[in-house]
Amino acid sequence: MEDRGFDLGRRLEALEDADLRRTLAPVDRVAERGYFAQPSGGDIPVLESDAELVFASNNYLGLTSDQRIQDAARQAAATVGTGSGASRLVTGDTMVHHDLERLLAETKGTDRALAFSSGYAANVGTITALEPDVIFSDEYNHASIIDGCRLSNADVIQYDHCNVPNLRAQLADRADGYPEDESWLIVTDTVFSMDGTVAPLSGICDAADEFGAWVMADEAHATGLYVDGGGIAQAEGVGDRVDVQLGTLSKALASQGGYVTGSDDLIECLVNDARSFVFSTGLSPPAAAAASEALHISRHGDARERLWENVSHLRDGLETMGYDVLGDSQILPIVVGDRETALDLAEAVRERGIVTPAIRPPTVPEGTSRLRIAPMATHSQEDIVACLEAFQEAGEEIGLL
Ligand SMILES: Cc1ncc(COP(=O)(O)O)c(C=O)c1O
Repeated sequence: MEDRGFDLGRRLEALEDADLRRTLAPVDRVAERGYFAQPSGGDIPVLESDAELVFASNNYLGLTSDQRIQDAARQAAATVGTGSGASRLVTGDTMVHHDLERLLAETKGTDRALAFSSGYAANVGTITALEPDVIFSDEYNHASIIDGCRLSNADVIQYDHCNVPNLRAQLADRADGYPEDESWLIVTDTVFSMDGTVAPLSGICDAADEFGAWVMADEAHATGLYVDGGGIAQAEGVGDRVDVQLGTLSKALASQGGYVTGSDDLIECLVNDARSFVFSTGLSPPAAAAASEALHISRHGDARERLWENVSHLRDGLETMGYDVLGDSQILPIVVGDRETALDLAEAVRERGIVTPAIRPPTVPEGTSRLRIAPMATHSQEDIVACLEAFQEAGEEIGLL
């Protein structure tokens, strides 16, 4: 009989041969420090006996272990339920969803907000629901934007990373000879997670205004970290010029889920047409309540200030040692070149108790393998010094410094 199945063994071998096979290795808790296990496949993982310092998490404000947020999640589970039980459009819509959405809209200065079950779902659902004819997309945009672009069947035109003149040239090119009634969407991450770069949102909005396009900004790595708990749109004062502000609840907001904020009409359209909203169970009430509390804390507490102090201490220290640190955000990537050097550096810092996995192709372009260092607000000064010492010793050991 013909074999019409799938040769998964060969696929895995190919990944192994290309040094691209990924593995799962759990940690005992999500915090600035934890006990990790070695990858164990399907076997029960065994935690190492030494705790390690985590400098690679998106839990930027360190709020996953905040008692107030844990209490909010606990209380929502007890009073509303552990899960939504259905799509929001059926019976899964609850008061905690509306509380969260009110707070997100207030933070972002928009009419309304809508919570999705993930940031991935928010991107895919929003881009496809808008049904743009043409999408102008930063070449380094996140995979969930790329997947949304693919599913939308729009013509997708990439522009050079954070390059407004190049975007403007692509807009002008398309304007020449194509119908004037096309709908155009410019989409960009605001903080790029592998490069630490920040999108030039004002310039992008200027270009959009010139050609009548809409702007959609993915604030996944910025939400909660800037002015009054907002993102780059708030930091640059262009919230009212960005048509779709989107993000995730899973990074600084220490929870799970995604969101979109914008006009009343935008949100009403998404409620009706975003398939990842309509045909997916509502965000779980504990996740919604945790995100609301985290957003409140990020707006009114001192966590943001502590994060930015740690970022500046760590960036200064790494640069003083001679590392070239990319970007202008809380993400501190150091590009070392080839995969082997990145793996060696990651291993050498790991031997010193610091977790910063190597980021290699295909996640980043060939020849730009890197370590992506992400401090948290809850790292102490001693933690930052331990991280710097590890990078100094490791860099010297493998001949980088
Ligand atoms: C820029 C960007 N957008 C969207 C997402 C997806 O968010 P989530 O993890 O909530 O699905 C991520 C996270 O990995 C991201 O980095």
